[in-house]
Amino acid sequence: MDYCMKIHAMNAQMDHTPLAMVDTYGCQQNEADSERLRGYLSEMGYGFTDDEHKADLVLVNTCAIREHAEQRVLGNVGALTHTKRANPNQIICLCGCMAQEEHVAKKVRESYRQVDLLFGPHALWRFPELLWRFRATGKRVFEHTDEAGSIAEGIPVVRQGGVKAWVSIMYGCNNFCTYCIVPYVRGRERSRRPQVILEEIRGLVAEGYKDITLLGQNVNSYGKDLDGPMDFADLLKEAAGIPGDFLLRFMTSHPKDASQKLFETMASSEKIAPCFHLPFQAGSDRILKAMNRVYDRAGYLDKVRRLREQIPDVVITSDVIVGFPGETTEEFEETLSLIEEVRFDALFTFIYSPRVGTPAASMPDPMSREEKLRNFQRLVDRQDQISEEKHAAYIGKTVRCLVDGKDEKGLTARTPGNRLVRLTGEESLIGSFVDVAITGANKWSLFGELA
Ligand code: SAH
Ligand code: SF4
Ligand code: F3S
Repeated sequence: MDYCMKIHAMNAQMDHTPLAMVDTYGCQQNEADSERLRGYLSEMGYGFTDDEHKADLVLVNTCAIREHAEQRVLGNVGALTHTKRANPNQIICLCGCMAQEEHVAKKVRESYRQVDLLFGPHALWRFPELLWRFRATGKRVFEHTDEAGSIAEGIPVVRQGGVKAWVSIMYGCNNFCTYCIVPYVRGRERSRRPQVILEEIRGLVAEGYKDITLLGQNVNSYGKDLDGPMDFADLLKEAAGIPGDFLLRFMTSHPKDASQKLFETMASSEKIAPCFHLPFQAGSDRILKAMNRVYDRAGYLDKVRRLREQIPDVVITSDVIVGFPGETTEEFEETLSLIEEVRFDALFTFIYSPRVGTPAASMPDPMSREEKLRNFQRLVDRQDQISEEKHAAYIGKTVRCLVDGKDEKGLTARTPGNRLVRLTGEESLIGSFVDVAITGANKWSLFGELA
C-alpha cells in the first residue's frame, strides 16, 4: 500500500487523471485476479478505460491453458506497438499465467520490447512495488521467479457489476493432470483461512451481491493444507449459514474428491445452487489413466448417480478434451457414450493443445488434426442436441431466476442451475430474484416472461 501511495503521488503530478485498461483472458481465477489488480490501480489514482488508445497503462492478464489463448494474447500485445508509438509514455504490463512460463518471459524480453513490466501470478500482490520500480527507474522489470507460493490478504478489490461476485478460496493445484500447465504456473494448492473467506462473503452479502461463486482450481481439496479441521463441505455449509437472500456456487471440482458429504451439504441448503461443474475430460479408462486423472469411468458415473440421488434436478456441466495424445477413435467413442449416459446440461469441449513442459507434450500423438476435428465436431453436434432437449424440458415451467444484467437483446437472468434466460422487463429488476415463466428455448438459452 506504501507503493500505491508513492505512485498516487506521481500520478497527482500529471496534467490529467491517468487511465488504465485491464484486459483479461482465461478462467474466473484470472477475472478475480484482475479485480484485485484494478483495486491496486484505483488506490494508485488510476481511472479506467476500455480503449487502449486512451490508456496510460495497459495491463494484460494472460492465460496459458491452450495454444490459441497464447496466440491471441501475443497478437494483441503485438498490436500495442502502435498505441505505444502514438503515446510513448504508455506503460505496458503483462501478467498472469503466461508470464510465469520461462519461454514466454524470454520471448517477451527479446521480441516484445514494448512490454515494460512482466510478472507471474506469484508476484501479483507485489504489483505496486514492481510498477513503482519501473516508474522510478524507467528500466524494464521482469518478475517471474518460481516460489512455493503464499497468500496475500487485504488486497483492495474493484469488482465488475454489483450482482455477481467471485471469491477465491484457494490458489494453485497439486493434481498435475499430464496435459495441464496450471500447476506449473500457479504453484501448489494453498487455502485461504476460513475466517477471511466467510468475512468476505458476509461483506458481499451486506453490499447486496446475490450470486457468489467460490473459486479454486480444485475446490474439493480446500482445507487439506490448513491446521483446523475444515473441508470444502464444511466451508460451504458455514457460508450458506450467513443470513441474506443470495446463492452460492463453486468451481471447479475434481471428481476424485467430490464427496458424498459435499452432495449432502448441497442438498441441505436452498442457498447452495443446484449445479455442479464436474469435468470428466475423457470417457476411456486408458486415456483417463494417461491423463493422470486418478478416477475411472465407472467411478465418475457413480459420482454423478450419487449427486443426482441427493439433488434430482441438479444441473451438471463438464469439460472434455478431444484428441489427447494417442487417443484412438474407438476411445473417443467412449467419450461420446459417456455424454449419452450422463446427458450433461452443457459441455465445454476442447481440442488437446500441447503445453511446453507437461508430460503429455512429449507423448506420441499420431492422429491427424483433421481426424481430431472430425471427432470434435461429432461431439459438439451431439451435445448441442442434448442441450437443446434439456432446455426444451423447461418450457411451461416457472423458475425463480436472478436477473443479472442486460445486453442488446434485453434482460438476462440465471436459473438456480445457472442456465441463461432471456426476458423483457425493466432494468430496475437487475439484482432481484423473480419468477419467470419459461416460454421457449434453444441450445444456448431459455426465453421467458415475468410470471
Ligand atoms: N481445474 C479445472 C480445470 C482448469 S482448465 C479442472 O481440473 O477441471 C479448464 C479446462 O481446460 C480443463 O478442464 C480441460 O478440459 C481444458 N484443458 C486444460 N489443459 C488443456 C490442454 N492442454 N489442451 C486442451 N484443453 C485443456
Ligand atoms: Fe489442470 Fe488437472 Fe489441476 Fe485442473 S486439476 S488445474 S486440469 S492439473
Ligand atoms: Fe488460464 Fe491460468 Fe486460468 S492458464 S485457465 S488463466 S489458471
